[in-house]
Amino acid sequence: MKLPVSLLCAAAAAALSFSAHAQSAKPDLAKGAALFGQVCVACHAADGNSTTPANPSLAQQHPEYLVKQLSEFKSGKRDNAIMKGFAGSLSDDDMRNIAYWLNEQKAKTGFAQDKDLVRLGERIYRGGIADRQIAACAGCHSPNGAGIPSQYPRLSGQHAEYTATQLKAFRDGTRNNNAQMTGVAAKLNDREIQAVSDYIAGLPEGKPPPKPGI
Ligand code: HEC
Ligand code: HEC
Repeated sequence: MKLPVSLLCAAAAAALSFSAHAQSAKPDLAKGAALFGQVCVACHAADGNSTTPANPSLAQQHPEYLVKQLSEFKSGKRDNAIMKGFAGSLSDDDMRNIAYWLNEQKAKTGFAQDKDLVRLGERIYRGGIADRQIAACAGCHSPNGAGIPSQYPRLSGQHAEYTATQLKAFRDGTRNNNAQMTGVAAKLNDREIQAVSDYIAGLPEGKPPPKPGI
């Protein structure tokens, strides 16, 4: 969807100014759902399974990881012009409420697109590239891509376009909020990034594209 960012930011600020400020022990999932439905839904879809490949799916992601990203968008440590505006209007409680609600939304599974390239992607994901000291993604993100709470995010089923953008951003320093990932991405070439991103889109089973006619 194409809406001017400035307009969306104004809408976000208006909607978010209603949110409560009191620090609660438990995240308030109903408030999280309501805020998400007012603002975030425009780009991340009603259930957090984004239908736009440039926008990440957020459903079922670890809440601690989501809160970290939202705080870092707000502070500018993770530098993104679009998300800075939206995260900037959220309080700490808003972030927790949204993050814990998102964690309860079921992630949809996806498919890899390119059945030849996906094999290279699988090799990198599961085994890394030993002779270039590239660590296996599975070691930190788990073999099925579910991640390891709370530090290592879930990757499975994510849009390949978004994953590739992030890997390139880690590599060129545009996304500079994690030294481990900067180190991993620094050694990957474009073809390897495309391959591993495609494989991740088809996780947990690493599903190849559906056969034509089925
Ligand atoms: C105008 C579209 C748009 C809106 C509205 C929007 N986002 Fe985003 N969001 C994006 C894009 C694009 C990215 C990818 C940013 C990047 O490349 O670093 C993103 C990234 C994120 C991430 C990082 C995900 C990850 O896996 O690291 C989180 C968390 C997030 N958004 C949450 C939200 C929340 C919560 C709201 C509502 C308060 C929201 N977004 C509103 C477009 C949007
Ligand atoms: C040593 C552990 C480690 C290894 C190995 C590793 N990662 Fe990560 N990865 C992380 C951590 C930690 C984060 C969270 C960064 C943050 O907090 O912003 C992350 C984040 C990511 C993200 C961003 C997710 C999002 O939603 O924006 C992607 C994509 C990613 N890793 C892909 C990979 C791929 C592909 C490989 C293998 C080539 C890999 N990682 C290997 C630790 C690792």
